[in-house]
Amino acid sequence: MRIVLSIGIVGLGNIGKRHLDILFNMPTYQVVAICDVDAEKLHHFSVLYGVPGFLNFDDFLSYCSSVNCSIIGITTPHHEHANQSILAFEKGFDVLVEKPMAIHSADALKMIQAAQNSKRKLWVVKQNRFNAPVARVNDLIMSGELGKIYHLQCQIIWNRSASYYSDSKWRGKLDSEGGALYTHASHFIDLMTWWAGKVVHASGVMKRFVQPIESEDMGSAVLEFDSGAMGSITWTTLSHGQNQEGSITIISEKGTIKIGGPYLNKIDFWDVSGIQEPTDLSQVDQPNDYGSFKGSSSNHHLVYDSIWKEMESGVIQTVDGVEGLKSIEAIETIYRSIKKIDE
Ligand SMILES: NC(=O)c1ccc[n+]([C@@H]2O[C@H](COP(=O)([O-])OP(=O)(O)OC[C@H]3O[C@@H](n4cnc5c(N)ncnc54)[C@H](O)[C@@H]3O)[C@@H](O)[C@H]2O)c1
Repeated sequence: MRIVLSIGIVGLGNIGKRHLDILFNMPTYQVVAICDVDAEKLHHFSVLYGVPGFLNFDDFLSYCSSVNCSIIGITTPHHEHANQSILAFEKGFDVLVEKPMAIHSADALKMIQAAQNSKRKLWVVKQNRFNAPVARVNDLIMSGELGKIYHLQCQIIWNRSASYYSDSKWRGKLDSEGGALYTHASHFIDLMTWWAGKVVHASGVMKRFVQPIESEDMGSAVLEFDSGAMGSITWTTLSHGQNQEGSITIISEKGTIKIGGPYLNKIDFWDVSGIQEPTDLSQVDQPNDYGSFKGSSSNHHLVYDSIWKEMESGVIQTVDGVEGLKSIEAIETIYRSIKKIDE
């Protein structure tokens, strides 16, 4: 008989809604409770899905304990992730936390420690790892078929309106968002560190041109990884009118590949010794559509599938806390090394 995993979700915003929509369509999961500090939203989703809703996180955890729920899904803003994860571990839950797992690596380490202390699992949402072109390229890198990686070039040329920030209590603020690398670039940086290792040197420039925020709306950095590979990353929310590109170009000993499209969802260039470009990968992965903007990939169901497989048969495909920490450390290195914002 198939196992059914019970889960409670905290944070019912753009991505929390998507988690609920997916989970209520998966027979392998049962959502037992939801939580949000916004009473109106909480009421709406509680009625829509017929599940108990809690305004208070402690009450939510207590209820989840009382019904033997096993997983807490954390889809709140960045600055809530560490604290809420640690409280959930203390009550004996496994935790799935949205990216970035934390704003500071010290907090991410505390989360990893709390998971270990309570012998529970910590997973981080990195659904872009399941994008078809990304998974195919990863296979080539891990099998050695691309040879030595020389350079990774990442471009995140996205559009966000001023109201994306001004309508939000946490976006664009240093203490609650941490900067655009945590929000828009963290999936890309996760892939770069997966393929080239730890970022050991970075230098660059970032500026805030127009967005009503404390952090940057444009940045560019050159990187060196501990594997010896070089890298570069340009990120912005100022693409005119729409997202233009979300890409990583891999320059390696045995091939050059650009995974591109706006969301790492197609192969824009392929020249690999002895290996033809796969023809079945492009545009399989769709972006998450939030109405006024689009971002990343909508492969959250594959993250949930991978957790289910891990719990059912021990096959590990989901990013854990230790792996999630790597992109936080890389982002910290980039921000630490870069020139201060020049308004
Ligand atoms: N994996 C992805 O591709 C992806 C996509 C979008 C967002 N995210 C991440 O998901 C998280 C949420 O982003 P969002 O765009 O949904 O934000 P959002 O602002 O739309 O939603 C956040 C929700 O959390 C609630 N909330 C805030 N503090 C809370 C607290 N202490 N307890 C309970 N609820 C609380 C808010 O009321 C709101 O409903 C962020 O970490 C973001 O980076 C990931």
